[in-house]
Amino acid sequence: MRQYLSSNMIVLVPQAEIDAAVQLLLKLKVDYKQMTGQDYKAGCPPSENLIVSNNGPAADDCDGEDLVDPWNVSASSTKGVDYDKLIVRFGSSKIDKELLERIEKVSGQRAHHFLRRGIFFSHRDMHQILDAYEKHKSFYLYTGRGPSSEAMHVGHLIPFIFTKWLQDVFDIPLVIQMTDDEKYLWKDLTLEECHRFTVENAKDIIACGFDVNKTFIFSDLDYMGASPQFYRNVVKVQKHVTFNQVKGIFGFTDSDCIGKISFPAIQAAPSFSSSFPQIFGGKKDVPCLIPCAIDQDPYFRMTRDVAPRIGLLKPALLHSTFFPALQGAQTKMSASDPNSSIFLTDTPKQIKNKVNKHAFSGGKDTVEEHRKYGGNTEVDVSFLYLTFFLEDDEKLEKIKEDYTSGALLTGELKKILIETLQPMIAQHQERRKQVTDEMVQQFMTPRPLNFKF
Ligand code: TRP
Repeated sequence: MRQYLSSNMIVLVPQAEIDAAVQLLLKLKVDYKQMTGQDYKAGCPPSENLIVSNNGPAADDCDGEDLVDPWNVSASSTKGVDYDKLIVRFGSSKIDKELLERIEKVSGQRAHHFLRRGIFFSHRDMHQILDAYEKHKSFYLYTGRGPSSEAMHVGHLIPFIFTKWLQDVFDIPLVIQMTDDEKYLWKDLTLEECHRFTVENAKDIIACGFDVNKTFIFSDLDYMGASPQFYRNVVKVQKHVTFNQVKGIFGFTDSDCIGKISFPAIQAAPSFSSSFPQIFGGKKDVPCLIPCAIDQDPYFRMTRDVAPRIGLLKPALLHSTFFPALQGAQTKMSASDPNSSIFLTDTPKQIKNKVNKHAFSGGKDTVEEHRKYGGNTEVDVSFLYLTFFLEDDEKLEKIKEDYTSGALLTGELKKILIETLQPMIAQHQERRKQVTDEMVQQFMTPRPLNFKF
C-alpha cells in the first residue's frame, strides 16, 4: 500500500490521475477490510488470518460484481461488463471526447471506428504520448498474443486491427510479443506445441497487414535467450516486485509454479525501449504505447508501478472492451468453446450456421411482438458484432433504428451480420495464404526497423 502511494503520489500529476488514485485508494481500503476484517491503518500490518481472495483485489466477484482478470471475464448483467465501473476500479481514465479530438488533431486522421464507438474506451497517459508526438518526439507500439492454440477467432483480431491503424497513422515501430512461455506455464501443452502456435498465429497477425519494415514479432522462447538487454530488463523487474505484490495483483497462491509467479516480469519487459537495442540503438527513453484488451491491465499496472523505481518510463495504454461470445455479452469469445466463436478458419457455411444458431438475440419471441415492441440492440450479439465490423456509421445507425422500432427482424439482422463476416473472413484467409514461412522468419528476425525519430 505504502509503496503504491510513494510511487504514484508525486507532484505535478494531472488532476484526473489524482482523482483516479483516490478512487483506487478508497477501493483498496474496502478490499483490505473485506480480506482482513480490519480497518486499514497506515503502517500497521493486518494482525493474522489474512484471507487472500483468489483473484486479487482487482477482480473481486462478490456481490454481483463483474469478474475481470487475465484469465477470466464474466459479467453480472446481460449487457456485459460495466466498463465505467471498471475504469474506477482499475484507476484508468475514460477516452472522452476531448481525447478523441486530440487524437484526430495530432494524427490528422478521423478516429478509427473502434475509438468513435467506445470499443477502445479507457487509457493511461495517452495525453502524454500525444504531447510528446506534437513535439516531434516519437513513440513505439507494443502488443501481444498468447498462442494457446492454432485456432484464432475474430475477437483476437481486434487489438491487431487497431494497432495496425495506429502504426499507419503515426508511422511508428511496433513490437509484438508472442508469449509461448506463458501458455506453456499455464496450459497442458508442450514447449514444441506452444512454439508452433506462435508461428501459426504470427501468420494470422501478419495477414492483418503490418509493415515488415516497421514490425518486430518475437517468441519469448526464442528472444529471451537471444537478447541480453531484454533479459536484463526482466531481471530488473523481478528484483523490484515481491511475491506478495503479484499475489495481490494476479491472485497467485503458494501452489502456483514459480514460472507463473515470475512471468509478469516477462510481459513487462517489452514496455521498455532498452529491451530492443537492435531497434532503438540502446535508447532507454522512447515512450511506449500498449493497445490491449482491458483484462491485460494488471500486467501493466505492475509495470507502471516498477518503471520509475528501475529508472525507466511508464508505458501508456489504450484499453479495449471484450469481444462478446456468440451466446451473449456476459462473457468473452473463447477459443476453447467452438460454439462461442467465429474462427478465422470458418467457412461461409459455418459462419452462417453459427450466427443463426447461437448468436444471442435481443429480439422478441414472436414476429408480432417484435413488430410491436422492437428489439434490444444493447444485448443483441449480432448488433454488437456489427459495431465492431460494420464501418459505415450511417448504415449502423439505420440498423439500430430499424431494429429498435421493430421494422427489422432478428433473422434479417443476422443476415446482415453473416454478409458482413463472410467476405471479411474470406479476405483474411486469402491474405493468410500469401504469408510464407520466409515472411514469418523476416518479421521474427531481430533487426533495425525503418523509422525516423
Ligand atoms: N498475455 C497476453 C495473452 O495471453 C499476451 C500479451 C503479451 C499481450 N504481451 C501483451 C497482450 C501486450 C496485449 C499487450 O494473450
